[in-house]
Amino acid sequence: MEKILIVDDEAFIRENLERLISKDGYLPISTDSPDEAINIVAAEEISLVLLDLNLGSSSGLDVLRAMREVDPEILVIIITGYGTVESAVEALKIGAYDYIKKPFKADAIHLIVKLALETQNLRRKVKRLSRDADGINMVGNSPALMQIFQQIREVAKHEKATVLITGDSGTGKELVAQAIHNLSPRKERPFIEINCGSLPFNLLETELFGHERGAFTDAKNRKIGLFEEADTGSVFLDEIGEMDLNLQVKLLRVLEDRKIRRLGGNRNIDINVRIIAATNADLKGALERKDFREDLFYRLNVFPIHIPPLRERHEDIPILLEYFLQRFSKEFNKLMRGFSRETIDLMMRYHWPGNVRELRNVVERICIMHNVEQILPEHLPREIWGEVPQSEMPFDCEIPPEGIVLDDVIARVEKELVSKAFRISGGNVAKTARVLNVPRGTLRYKLEKYELDS
Ligand SMILES: Nc1ncnc2c1ncn2[C@@H]1O[C@H](COP(=O)(O)OP(=O)(O)OP(=O)(O)O)[C@@H](O)[C@H]1O
Ligand SMILES: [Mg+2]
Repeated sequence: MEKILIVDDEAFIRENLERLISKDGYLPISTDSPDEAINIVAAEEISLVLLDLNLGSSSGLDVLRAMREVDPEILVIIITGYGTVESAVEALKIGAYDYIKKPFKADAIHLIVKLALETQNLRRKVKRLSRDADGINMVGNSPALMQIFQQIREVAKHEKATVLITGDSGTGKELVAQAIHNLSPRKERPFIEINCGSLPFNLLETELFGHERGAFTDAKNRKIGLFEEADTGSVFLDEIGEMDLNLQVKLLRVLEDRKIRRLGGNRNIDINVRIIAATNADLKGALERKDFREDLFYRLNVFPIHIPPLRERHEDIPILLEYFLQRFSKEFNKLMRGFSRETIDLMMRYHWPGNVRELRNVVERICIMHNVEQILPEHLPREIWGEVPQSEMPFDCEIPPEGIVLDDVIARVEKELVSKAFRISGGNVAKTARVLNVPRGTLRYKLEKYELDS
């Protein structure tokens, strides 16, 4: 059971929090003594601390600092009274996860604790992944990706096995190719990559096979090709689907005989390379159209690895978001802690045509353009929330055990939306009415009702 430490000098607050926390299935431990609190953090496995900023004689900030000294990863939510919001912001700067104002509602505690623990779990997972990455520089926890990691480890051991990686653009084919090399006994040897789609036939041919001096008019010197250069290493043939049919024949021979001949040369050279090929093209279709040789396909497809598109492995989205956020917020020196649940929901519904590359770019762009603690839907590019029908827009509303007054909640939501629309329309009534799709008269009434018209 996850343990949550409550540090507050008011017995009433402690009891209240204890009750809420046990109701949610966590184990509360509470104290009013800062010293004892620090000892508990040092001695026990505490998942989260709820720390009051005003602890009689001690300052909550000092307690926070001391806690982070004994456990730099400790997750702390600050509880702040009226007038101490500035110190709460100070607390965020020295590493608190979030703060909540007194008096708090039960559902607010419930939400903040849940979100904090979820984030903490993701962070730990990202750390763990990068620690025992053992050469696989990829994150994710979907069953599909787990299976791919397994395949990578398996095929890496067989140092000559040819691998064919398929998957849409941006799914991570290059990372898989590198991982296979990094985990293989060839890891200290060269990993040479070439994009078969980016060069015309004859250039690609000399790149791969090299040439002797005088092989053709411009061949002033001998050139060693990639297959020779990568000797005892790996060659990554990217976009293999784009390879010219004539070159496909030559590649087939390499795969069959493990020998090459430089252009203009008259001797066969033994080569010792692992070939990893990748494509985002539909090779089966290319086979039918006779754009890709069937015999070559079977030679390459000895060990196939298929990476499904991101939309088919939603489970990977939160952890990828966390991974890229950690990376880019560090890179751009920002204090961005996480995504709100709504934001994550929106991202999980989006279909990501550009796959992980697109997700990476979205997070990078957010980190460049904003500097906010919590990333909200409004920080996302239009296309991401443009896709969700309005009736399905996620909406964080929890029903606390004591119930709600529906009309009050609806009024609050209405007020929020009207005031937001009024603000973004620059206080123009006609514009606001258009944004909200309500008659102007109705809008005027609502503006008055919520005292927004001034
Ligand atoms: N599981 C993952 N974990 C972390 N980063 C990832 C993951 N998958 C992809 N990426 C990142 O997404 C980007 C695209 O990945 P990569 O270049 O390997 O895709 P690709 O399948 O080779 O795409 P293309 O077909 O367009 O060449 C890279 O920045 C890569 O680091
Ligand atoms: Mg690629």
